[in-house]
Amino acid sequence: MTTIQTTPFEGQKPGTSGLRKKTKVFMQNHFLENFIQSTFDAIGGVDGKVLVLGGDGRYFGKEAAQTILKMAAANGASKVYVGMGAWLSTPAASNLIRTLDTDGGLILSASHNPGGPDEDFGVKYNAANGGPAPEKITDAIFERTKNITSYLKLEAEDIDLGNVGTQMLGEMEVEVLDPVAAYADMMEGIFDFAALKALFAKGFRMRMDSMCAITGPYAVEIFENRLGAPKGTVTHETPLEDFGGMHPDPNPTWAHELMAEMMGENAPDFGAASDGDGDRNMILGAGTYVSPSDSLAVIAANAKLVPGYAKGLKGVARSMPTSAAVDRVAEALGLACFETPTGWKFFGNLMDAGRVSLCGEESFGTGSDHVREKDGLWAVLMWLNIIAARGQSVGEIMEDHFKRFGRNYYSRHDYEALPKEQAEALLEDLRSRLAELPGKEYQGLVVGNADEFAYTDPVDQSVSEGQGFRILFAGGSRVVLRLSGTGTEGATLRVYLERYVAGPEGLGEDPQEALAPIIKATEEIVGIAAITGKQQPDVIT
Ligand code: G6P
Ligand code: ZN
Repeated sequence: MTTIQTTPFEGQKPGTSGLRKKTKVFMQNHFLENFIQSTFDAIGGVDGKVLVLGGDGRYFGKEAAQTILKMAAANGASKVYVGMGAWLSTPAASNLIRTLDTDGGLILSASHNPGGPDEDFGVKYNAANGGPAPEKITDAIFERTKNITSYLKLEAEDIDLGNVGTQMLGEMEVEVLDPVAAYADMMEGIFDFAALKALFAKGFRMRMDSMCAITGPYAVEIFENRLGAPKGTVTHETPLEDFGGMHPDPNPTWAHELMAEMMGENAPDFGAASDGDGDRNMILGAGTYVSPSDSLAVIAANAKLVPGYAKGLKGVARSMPTSAAVDRVAEALGLACFETPTGWKFFGNLMDAGRVSLCGEESFGTGSDHVREKDGLWAVLMWLNIIAARGQSVGEIMEDHFKRFGRNYYSRHDYEALPKEQAEALLEDLRSRLAELPGKEYQGLVVGNADEFAYTDPVDQSVSEGQGFRILFAGGSRVVLRLSGTGTEGATLRVYLERYVAGPEGLGEDPQEALAPIIKATEEIVGIAAITGKQQPDVIT
């Protein structure tokens, strides 16, 4: 065992979901090691503990896994379970952390950010419940990174991560396991696989785009091998270190190949995509795009059709910028509905306390209490199971849903890579004017209320402030603005637009048109184009 001297790096503050940096930043001498030792120290050491380790297969993941194993051994961990090839999707890691009764795990991923030597890398610590570390732990990690002076690392040969089996690293056991099997088994326990097999046997056509990222092997095993979907149903199914140059974010902009197929002639019945580490999803029907907020609402409304939720949901939760579509379902079904800040970690306490079983975010994340992460393939299977049970197309299901609950027109506009100072000044200026907005009229819309969202966790009473600006207009329309916490370049301004239409008229409009007055009012109030010089957002979801 060796104690290695080091000095702190600036900026090792975990963001919305772990520490994300350019890969080359992570590859600097001591950078990864400082963060890992700080994590170990912040959780009271790993002496005698059991951990899970794996990642999305991106560049530098294998090297990082070897380093972490040697550090865990030197810090006295008793065992680490590693996915073969250092592969584990984020939801699969969460499942293993929970079912193997471990003390937590490390996930090597920058999620939906591109990978490769010139792109992004990331590390995230998940606690024993399988969920992302809460803020009190990530704050403690950051504090430790500021004064770290040394770390522990075993001097040893690299472990063989290419074969399943158990090896020793010093006195620590390393068990390399099949990254897919336990996850696929869990899915069989939740969903009606017989009904899904029958659906594919009848010729139901699906396209699953794994975007050269981690869900490929999982999706092939589940859809093609276990459910009998034709070979080739899953595309971009081999995880590549640079995701084949794809930007593995399942939204209409980045999953454009899938979009083109689903919006084109002879489109398959159902389309889906997932992100780098497999926790996000996008749902499509032939000619139909399902916004993530609507997907959450549809899943909530139909959950009882799925065996794993046949007894009904305990409650639902959504992040604040997510549309209120699910709130309407919760109201109709008499379910508790919680509104949390952006970030899956805020759902953990609610799930652990048994208050919710379904959660979702506008950022293409949906999941349940089967794990403590959002789960891309789980969401795809929910939809498939609902389609099988209802015997309807995606388009028909959406139409019925809007008729019953009304429609929350919704869109997110992203302005990427803005100079940090500019984006911060823009929001600071808005903050200083918030109190003056109520009662004023913009583009025919009267501001009812304007505030900055703060959250008190109903379980542990912890308070999170500064979680985004809300401008609510009379009549139920709103705009939310916040800066992304997951980017690695400059600042990304996210603008979330929403308008409710009760129906029966006006349910079939184009969302950008339905939202046009709110978009104009936002420009008048905030001046995004005027300040940034960008006439259009970079990404629209
Ligand atoms: C990650 C988190 C999500 C979060 C999303 C958006 O995917 O796991 O919980 O909603 O990032 O974060 P951002 O700060 O970029 O809007
Ligand atoms: Zn992700």
